[in-house]
Amino acid sequence: SKKAVWGPLVGAVDQGTSSTRFLVFNSKTAELLSHHQVEIKQEFPREGWVEQDPKEILHSVYECIEKTCEKLGQLNIDISNIKAIGVSNQRETTVVWDKITGEPLYNAVVWLDLRTQSTVESLSKRIPGNNNFVKSKTGLPLSTYFSAVKLHWLLDNVRKVQKAVEDKRALFGTIDSWLIWSLTGGVSGGVHCTDVTNASRTMLFNIHSLEWDKQLCDFFGIPMEILPNVRSSSEIYGLMKAGALKGVPISGCLGDQSAALVGQMCFQIGEAKNTYGTGCFLLCNTGHKCVFSDHGLLTTVAYKLGRDKPVYYALEGSVAIAGAVVRWLRDNLGIIKTSEEIEKLAKEVGTSYGCYFVPAFSGLYAPYWEPSARGIICGLTQFTNKCHIAFAALEAVCFQTREILDAMNRDCGIPLSHLQVDGGMTSNKILMQLQLQADILCIPVVKPSMPETTALGAAMAAGAAEGVNVWSLEPEDLSAVTMERFEPQINAEESEIRYSTWKKAVMKSMGWVT
Ligand code: G3P
Repeated sequence: SKKAVWGPLVGAVDQGTSSTRFLVFNSKTAELLSHHQVEIKQEFPREGWVEQDPKEILHSVYECIEKTCEKLGQLNIDISNIKAIGVSNQRETTVVWDKITGEPLYNAVVWLDLRTQSTVESLSKRIPGNNNFVKSKTGLPLSTYFSAVKLHWLLDNVRKVQKAVEDKRALFGTIDSWLIWSLTGGVSGGVHCTDVTNASRTMLFNIHSLEWDKQLCDFFGIPMEILPNVRSSSEIYGLMKAGALKGVPISGCLGDQSAALVGQMCFQIGEAKNTYGTGCFLLCNTGHKCVFSDHGLLTTVAYKLGRDKPVYYALEGSVAIAGAVVRWLRDNLGIIKTSEEIEKLAKEVGTSYGCYFVPAFSGLYAPYWEPSARGIICGLTQFTNKCHIAFAALEAVCFQTREILDAMNRDCGIPLSHLQVDGGMTSNKILMQLQLQADILCIPVVKPSMPETTALGAAMAAGAAEGVNVWSLEPEDLSAVTMERFEPQINAEESEIRYSTWKKAVMKSMGWVT
């Protein structure tokens, strides 16, 4: 049959902690045309350890691309209209591989992994000069969260990694680097690069000079020759070497939270978004200025959309566990069979009935940065049942968001008047339509009707790259986004009482491990 005529299209890989997606957008209207999603396994080989298989991740990307292309074919859309591909990814997750064989030398050590807790403790005693050495250069607190300590652990503990470094065969990368290197040819000419947003999460990157920092690499014991080249978030890195989209340029790369900031069009200073994925991340654009937090937030690179374009920074509130708590109820407790079922359970009771659930599975991130915290469920009575626990899990996501919003308001001085949200959990009716999140924040929550903003941001960066030029980022060309708005319904006083009980529960979760 005759194929319908389409304008230029752009694809985006969204490689998150829980799943991989490939999505295709119309570059003129930002309309999502087709997508495919595959869940990714997580391994927990020891208490606190979280690993993933880099090859499974790569295969899931190929699978999503192939399936999406098939679906486009069924819609009579010619895939030769796909002019560029963007990559957005879970950040910090660390991979080391052999450039001669293309084989990963160990599993990917996931951002949530806690194995480096003692490394962090001993490194923090050895910080040269003043305590600000790491934070002033990187914007980050010394924590298990970031790549440098994970890489340090791999170099210290995995013989294969040590050997490959000695033999000059080792390459390090976060997931973006691993994917781009593999997709652009791997052992036969793969491009070893990363972008400024992902680099800013390694703890080896100077966010002022936008270069790898020799002093930091020395401090963490990292050989600089294994690091990828740092590029902007929007430029042609290389071409797809195989598969249905062979020959298409990969020309956008952003850590997933930066991609969501772009996809939500938060281009002005003070504009912010909160994305509910495995974790939950609130980013506020601070323009060309690095703003340092006094309230437990990170300073990070927001984006740099072109080689000659200026860099933008963001303040970030990072919460480790959001959607992951739902997965835990499903996989570890078995009280739901699918993630969607949590809504039904929670709705049955409509309250946690005094039960509070602090899911500090990986310690607590912002605003506490407390590695000694562990998850607790408290306030239980004989009346408590699984429905209350399900509700408390959802409420925990909202309370954690309230904590990072409060920190953001204090740091910025001007409180956010509403919260722009996106991500998987925003399809949950309790959080949104029944305004649990708006009630706990006491401000309206606003959600775009097209929820795939992370992928959209990566597609925009890819389509706008020099040499591709199918997506204009000029403000007058950006199509208006339709938004749904959820207003708070309970009074602020009631909300404060619940929030202060939550804080009591948080205090109880701390100091659990020493
Ligand atoms: O920093 C970790 C973050 O990038 C993970 O994102 O969407 O997998 O929760 P997500």
